[in-house]
Amino acid sequence: MLRRLRQRLEALRYDLYLRCVRRSAYFVAPLPDQTTLLSSHVYSALALKRVPAESWAALGLLYFGEILPRRQIDAALGGRLVDGLLELGLLAETDPDLVCADSYQIVPLDGLYFIVGNRTAEPDRGSIYIGRDSYLLAHCIPARIEGRVLDLCTGSGIQAIRAVARGGHGVAVELHPATFEAARCNAVLNGLEERLEVRQGDLWAPVAGETFDLVLSNPPFLGSPAAVPLPLYTWGGEDGLDVLRRILDGLPEHLTPQGQAMMVSEVLGSARDTVLTPLLSGWLQEPHDLRAELVLTQREEVTREVIRRHWGEALEGPEHGSTAELVEQRTDAVVSFFKERGYDHSYNCLLFIDRGVRLGEERLRVTRLFDPVEANSRPRLQAGVQLLEPRPNEFELVLQGGQERMAIPESLYFMLGRFDGERSVMEVALEYQSRYGAVQQDGKPALTHVLDTCRTFVFVEALALPD
Ligand SMILES: C[S@@+](CC[C@H](N)C(=O)[O-])C[C@H]1O[C@@H](n2cnc3c(N)ncnc32)[C@H](O)[C@@H]1O
Repeated sequence: MLRRLRQRLEALRYDLYLRCVRRSAYFVAPLPDQTTLLSSHVYSALALKRVPAESWAALGLLYFGEILPRRQIDAALGGRLVDGLLELGLLAETDPDLVCADSYQIVPLDGLYFIVGNRTAEPDRGSIYIGRDSYLLAHCIPARIEGRVLDLCTGSGIQAIRAVARGGHGVAVELHPATFEAARCNAVLNGLEERLEVRQGDLWAPVAGETFDLVLSNPPFLGSPAAVPLPLYTWGGEDGLDVLRRILDGLPEHLTPQGQAMMVSEVLGSARDTVLTPLLSGWLQEPHDLRAELVLTQREEVTREVIRRHWGEALEGPEHGSTAELVEQRTDAVVSFFKERGYDHSYNCLLFIDRGVRLGEERLRVTRLFDPVEANSRPRLQAGVQLLEPRPNEFELVLQGGQERMAIPESLYFMLGRFDGERSVMEVALEYQSRYGAVQQDGKPALTHVLDTCRTFVFVEALALPD
């Protein structure tokens, strides 16, 4: 049944059309995000008008969550396949003539197909997770793989399936019973069930005594107080590291001598560091020969708005019927919990671990790829750089002990002059706006302009976070 479904999706060019319509977003985000779902849907619906009616019906039903007439779906997928999918529970009849995919969506990536949870649908909402983080890790999987692969916390199976499709074979582990079934279905859907064994259980338990050449994991990573537990697919305990900690503990005995591990996560921290760095440093003191590179790809201040955006769906709670008031209360609890602990930033990161530490070599490397200048940064002019107003209404930037001088506009003189390590970029932007009245197209204050200046102006090196 699932094989027939894949053949039909291929014949309908389900993956190809979605790739053309979503353009670069296809590679970054598996689904249009919740807030833009509607507008993106409308946009895509318009764009899709030119694709054959049958392909459009399949995409509408299985990707965009449309409820469509049965005869239209029969024409797209074939009556027998539709009957089979109804029996399997992948499709549901909302009334005798209408069909929808109810709790599921099918997300394609590079010729592979993944049945995932439709997070706008009740009741098992979101237990089969897929997100931007899934794609970040999936894109790191090498093009050619040899040897045994393990995917811990497999969810839809995206990492494991992509890895075995590239030559490996191995095991995927998932705790949630319904998600485990979905991962098995996805292995079959992609014709890879002979290369991938999906096992149900808790992290390392189902693979006791086994070793692997490549260990992949996108574990649950959102932190929240114990009084505000989040769903299984996302909750990493109070500091967000509970599952990651247990993965690290088991890694030394499960990696082959040439083995490596790749993980993706979101971690809390301060403006300068993550809570993961001390954890890794401690773990690397233990008697094993592993080394780690932590690549921080993005940093964001954890504001109430960010909590609503990242934690929002999870804060609606695993149970149904969360009221808006309850969600607000949970958000308040998370905000004050983070404040107490000094978690004012959140980072996206990739973690690479392998063996082969040499004497004297650093065992932990932290690479920061995020932009150091953001709205709450307090940049300052580098020592030795001066701003002058040699004559009324003439402005100069003086470098290298006065040998290099550059005429600059007043607005830049104003802006750079405010970068004293005390004022934040946001404060400078507000002052700038009240003086120069610059308003961005989207109606925001001059923040974007000031940030862009920090990032792209030739003296970006002159701007630094205070120590
Ligand atoms: C963030 S999702 C990631 C899913 C998938 N690997 C991906 O990249 O999209 C985490 C998954 O881990 C599963 N999980 C949570 N705790 C687990 C545990 N102790 N053992 C195995 N799986 C677990 C959840 O049910 C969920 O499917």
